[in-house]
Order: sequence, then C-alpha cells, then structure tokens
Amino acid sequence: MSGAVTDTVDRITSRRDPRFEVTLYAYVGVEGAHTLDAYLERGGYDAARRALAMEPGEVVDLVKASGLRGRGGAGFPAGVKWSFMPPPDGRDRYVVCNADESEPGSCKDRYLMEDDPHQLIEGMMIAGHAIQATTGVIYVRGEYHHAYERLRAAMEEARARGILGRGVLGTDVDFDLILHRGAGAYICGEETALMNSFEGLRANPRLKPPFPAQAGVYGRPTTINNVTTLASVVHVVAKGADWFAAMGTDDSKGIHHAQVSGAVARPGVFEVPLGITYREIIHDLAGGPVGPAKAFIPGGTSCPLLPFDDAHLDLPMEYAAMANAGTMMGTGGVIVIPQDQCIVDAMYNVVRFYAHESCGKCTPCREGVATWLPKMYQKLLAGLGTPEDVDLIEDMVKNLRGTAFCPLADAAAWPVQKSLELFRDEYEYLAHHGTPMYPAKDRWSA
Ligand SMILES: Cc1cc2nc3c(=O)[nH]c(=O)nc-3n(C[C@H](O)[C@H](O)[C@H](O)COP(=O)(O)O)c2cc1C
Repeated sequence: MSGAVTDTVDRITSRRDPRFEVTLYAYVGVEGAHTLDAYLERGGYDAARRALAMEPGEVVDLVKASGLRGRGGAGFPAGVKWSFMPPPDGRDRYVVCNADESEPGSCKDRYLMEDDPHQLIEGMMIAGHAIQATTGVIYVRGEYHHAYERLRAAMEEARARGILGRGVLGTDVDFDLILHRGAGAYICGEETALMNSFEGLRANPRLKPPFPAQAGVYGRPTTINNVTTLASVVHVVAKGADWFAAMGTDDSKGIHHAQVSGAVARPGVFEVPLGITYREIIHDLAGGPVGPAKAFIPGGTSCPLLPFDDAHLDLPMEYAAMANAGTMMGTGGVIVIPQDQCIVDAMYNVVRFYAHESCGKCTPCREGVATWLPKMYQKLLAGLGTPEDVDLIEDMVKNLRGTAFCPLADAAAWPVQKSLELFRDEYEYLAHHGTPMYPAKDRWSA
C-alpha cells in the first residue's frame, strides 16, 4: 500500500464515534471485510433475499416510507424516483450507480466501494428488483483504481456463487452488473452526461425532459442513484423503514456521512444521524478548527459557504435547514476555512476546478465559468485588479446563475456570489492594495 493511501485510511479511522451506531461504514477500514466470505458471514445478501421475495412495488413503497433521499447531492427521495419508472414493456431497463464522486470535499463513496463492495452490489440488486431491471451499471470514477479493482473482484466472486447472473440467489430473477470506468471528468457525474459517457459519447449533459426514467441508458428506462443511496437501501430492507426514519429530522431521515476537511484537527469521514449540528461535526467529531476559522462549506465546493459563527454552527445537517440558510447540504463534504486564508485565493481554487471541468457545451459556462471567471481571479490575485473588477465578478456570477445548460455553472457561480456577500472587504482590499488582506500560506495541506 502506498504512503498516500495509508495516510488517507488513517485519516478516516476517526469516523467511529461511540455516540452513534455505525451502519453503512461498519466494515470500512476493517482488514479483509471486502471479500464475499466475510460479507456472507455477517449476514450479507440476506436483505436481497428478503427483497426478492417481495413484489417490486412493495420494495418501492418500503424505500418511500423510509424517507431515504438521494445522497448524490440533490436529495431527491429515492423511492419516489424509483416509482417514476414506466411499467415494463419488454424493453431493457437499467439501474445505474453514480460512483463518479468528483465534487471537491467529497470522499464517502470511495471507502464504501473499496472496503465493502458487496454492500453496494446488494443495494443494486435490490434496486434492480424494485424497478424490474435485469442490468445494473456501476460508473466508477476513473481515478478510483482501488475501488474499481475491489468491485471487479467482488462481482466475479458473486457470479461464481450464483449471486449475480441468471436466477440470482436461487430465485427466478436475473440480474447482472456492468462495471464501467469513468472518463476522468467531473461532468461525468451529472446523470445524463454519465449516460452519454457510458455509451461511448462525449460527456455532455442531455436536455431534460425526457428524464432518465423515460429515456436513460441507450434510450431505455433508467434509474440512477448515488453509491451511498444504494448502500443505504440494504439497511432499509434489513432493518425496516421505521428504523431508518427514526433517525434524522422530519425533513431529512436516516444516516449520512460528514466528510470533514480543511483546517480541522482531525479530518475524516464520520457516519452521523442527520440533524446533527455542524458544531458537533466540526468540533466534536473533527476535533475543532486549527486556529480561528471564518467560514465553512457545508456540502462540497458547489455549496455556498457559511460564516463560522454560533448561529450557523448550530444549524442541523439537513436539506431544509441548509436551503433556508441560502446554501445546500450537498454531498456532506464539510470544508473549514481558516481566518487567515485569503478568501479570494480560496475561491480561485474552487473557480479553477469548475473552469477545468466545464464541458464547454453551452455558452454561459464555456465563456463565463471556463474563461472569464478564472481570468478575473488571476487579474485580482496578480495585484492588477480594480474595484470595478470586483463589481464585474459579481455581475458575471449573477448572470451565470440559472442560465447554463446544467448545474455545473451554478456550482461555480453560487459559492463565488456568497463569498462576495460575506467577505467583500477582502476582495476590495486586494483590488485597492494589490496584495491580499491575508498573504498566501500553505494552509490547505496542513
Ligand atoms: C456537475 C455535476 C456533477 C455531479 N456529480 C455527481 C457524482 O459524482 N456523484 C453523484 O452521485 N451525483 C452527482 N451529481 C448528481 C447526479 O446528477 C444525480 O443527481 C445523482 O447521481 C442522483 O443520485 P441520488 O438521487 O441517489 O442522489 C452531479 C451533478 C452535477 C450537475
């Protein structure tokens, strides 16, 4: 194992907090837990057996009743999405797992795939049965080599024992999986771009409607869910909708994963019940900020930042609370920004990412996100900016909001807009003096 991988695994061991029952992550970081034998020993595929004995519609209803919402970022109710699939008409149908995980600050899916691949395969089988699809596709991020190898080996093990293939688990249900490596771009995580990429096309998002349930992979009815959503389904079936719904809040049920990075003492992935406050996540679980902090991003870099103050730290990790605060819960990737980090520099880091990842299909994103936004930041950071440039950035991001073909442009524009709202003084200081209020430090790798 390389040093880098060992370091990362060390960083996630802090996920175990005695206050919470660890469910999806129970075998993450546990040596040897990824094999089929180990999985079967701990009751693996029992939930799939139970689901296969149910009518597909009953499984959909169970997932609806659990209140499980998609963990890929948007939080759409999983059971409701499944119910959008049209009745079977003899055409192929697909369940797709979005394992492209490329949002900066997010890393929860990676460990689920590397250390517990059968949990995901079981979730895919259950989803496949619920929507009456006999083929599943796992689209795994190209850079996730270890996850790919673990999934590939797990699928081979499952096929060899009759868990995948014809008549799975001794039933008359057929189900098999295709494992597909991603094309190395963030846009491949957008569900319709992912389908294009899977089909061998350029990863441009498709126009919606039609939505994937009507015309997805190869134009066939398709349901797409995130890795964590599908892994959660196993536990909803095993322990019941009530068990899942008892955790969390009215708006946001169940378990999620706070992935904490940035200037904190103990970065890591923490399995938590929804409704936990950001104070508990950052202070209790992640060991608190390293030095004074001024802001935090609640759910990955596409989510606008919040001030690091009592009112915002006391907000619950919940879809509704984050929407009310003018941001999003996103993927749960929490990033803490220290007081002495130049916000212009920090946001340039974010802008650079989205500029690089824009697919270039639509004009607002190609010209705004990929071209002018990074240029304006480069000008400011080079000490060549003027106060009018700050106004121009603000104007540009306002015009980008809601005008592009897919949400990637919003993902770049919204955090910039919020950073201007909260820390305009830093932008103006840089424009007036030519130097940042907080000179650059290598704090991100601390
Ligand atoms: C630019 C962009 C990138 C995305 N990347 C991912 C990703 O890596 N993983 C993911 O699950 N969803 C990603 N999404 C969201 C998906 O389009 C889709 O909503 C999600 O896979 C649905 O799964 P869920 O309902 O289980 O959350 C992305 C969306 C956009 C606009």
